[in-house]
Amino acid sequence: MTAIDERPTNRSIYLEGAFAPVDREIDAVDCTVIGEVPTDLAGVYVRNGSNPRHEPKGRYHWFDGDGMLHALHLEDGRAHYRNRWVRTEAFAIEDAAGEAVWRGINERPDFSHPGGPFKDTANTDLVFHAGRLLALWWLGGPCYDVALPSLETNGRFDFHGTLAGLSAHPKVDPVTGEMMVFDFDVMPPYLTYGVVGRDGRLAHHTEIELDGPRLLHDIAITDRHTILCDFPLMWDPEQLARGRTKVMFDRDLPARFGILPRHGDGAVVRWFEASSCYMYHTINAWESGDEIVLVGCRISDPLARVDDADEVPRIDVLRLEPYLHEWRFDLRTGAVRERVLDDVMTEFPRMDNRTLGRPSRYAYSPRIASAPALLFDGFVKYDTGSGASVHHGYGEGRFGGETVFAPRVGSTGEDDGYVLTFVADARDGTSECVIVDARDVAGEPVGRVVIPQRVPIGYHSWWVGAEELG
Ligand SMILES: [Fe+2]
Repeated sequence: MTAIDERPTNRSIYLEGAFAPVDREIDAVDCTVIGEVPTDLAGVYVRNGSNPRHEPKGRYHWFDGDGMLHALHLEDGRAHYRNRWVRTEAFAIEDAAGEAVWRGINERPDFSHPGGPFKDTANTDLVFHAGRLLALWWLGGPCYDVALPSLETNGRFDFHGTLAGLSAHPKVDPVTGEMMVFDFDVMPPYLTYGVVGRDGRLAHHTEIELDGPRLLHDIAITDRHTILCDFPLMWDPEQLARGRTKVMFDRDLPARFGILPRHGDGAVVRWFEASSCYMYHTINAWESGDEIVLVGCRISDPLARVDDADEVPRIDVLRLEPYLHEWRFDLRTGAVRERVLDDVMTEFPRMDNRTLGRPSRYAYSPRIASAPALLFDGFVKYDTGSGASVHHGYGEGRFGGETVFAPRVGSTGEDDGYVLTFVADARDGTSECVIVDARDVAGEPVGRVVIPQRVPIGYHSWWVGAEELG
């Protein structure tokens, strides 16, 4: 194993305050509730995030930390909390070593490391598919099967030997139960796409040709097509050839969206060019006559500039100034139309997944606070049909993360349910899970579950309804 530089850790702002990791795994039964847990809200809210277990070696990046899951089990008006690290193979190696073994992405990677140049933390995303909760990593590769509600890691899951790896942000069709997946790599094939059947086995897989390696993050689906992204954000190829990783963005290249039938091969992808941008997260896409409509959070310039003021957050070199945006791809003419939908910075959007891939109206998008770090001081409920928006603020010094939409038991409409997120109070280190009526987001939360330890700001989440729990 190659020796690691023992340079002092740069104390990233993502190790401090509301981002600071916790070092305990706890179980708390019957958490205190301010207001109430509605009795028609039943299931488990799980959130993933970066929580380094050992002192990082070298310069820390927020994406480096070990995956930790925080879960709130809601049933019969009661709330039970627990948190657990995702016990990946890399976690076990560092557990045995008693210290960090991998360097983070801000340091020169060790491409000879048998466990890969970067630590697979499974810290990024969650998806519930074919009866399993899977923890996923932004750089792709193997995913991990996590038991519910215990949060114990069952180990790597390879879809019964049919699929070795996938990126974060697969998309589950709420009607067919199929899950559309993708993965990307610095070596050809730079992008792969596949469909996992509702039985949890790979049903279709194809290579997608790109001009070079890209740092990709999300896709979108309609009921018939999949939309792949090709944005000019990449590891600088000259630096990569020297064994170093440095992110670059080529503003001279357009944003490209590749549309293919759900079970189509890479050879039939139709590429649509739009103005250059980056996008971490899509919200939804659907078919409208000859057009495919895509809504997401567009970032025109994803790299930090020296003149950036502190009101636009950054994660090291990444600059986060995203706005709600719509693209329309005309499958008949090949034309692309795009427009900005709002001038409020929002990211980590979620929606009612029961309408994924079909025309939808509502999105719940965390609102970015004016701060140097990525903090959300509330969320915006967008009606992407009318352009209307309603804000929900968490209050002074309180910051939330990605929201999740949980349908009410017996829900009859797209916004008939609750919006949940963990909120951290940066002033006193306390945390809550707020439960907001999705049809009254301007109102006070119907319930605030007091979490008996701080829940650091994290990444993506999933709602598993009681009817889906085994
Ligand atoms: Fe993401």
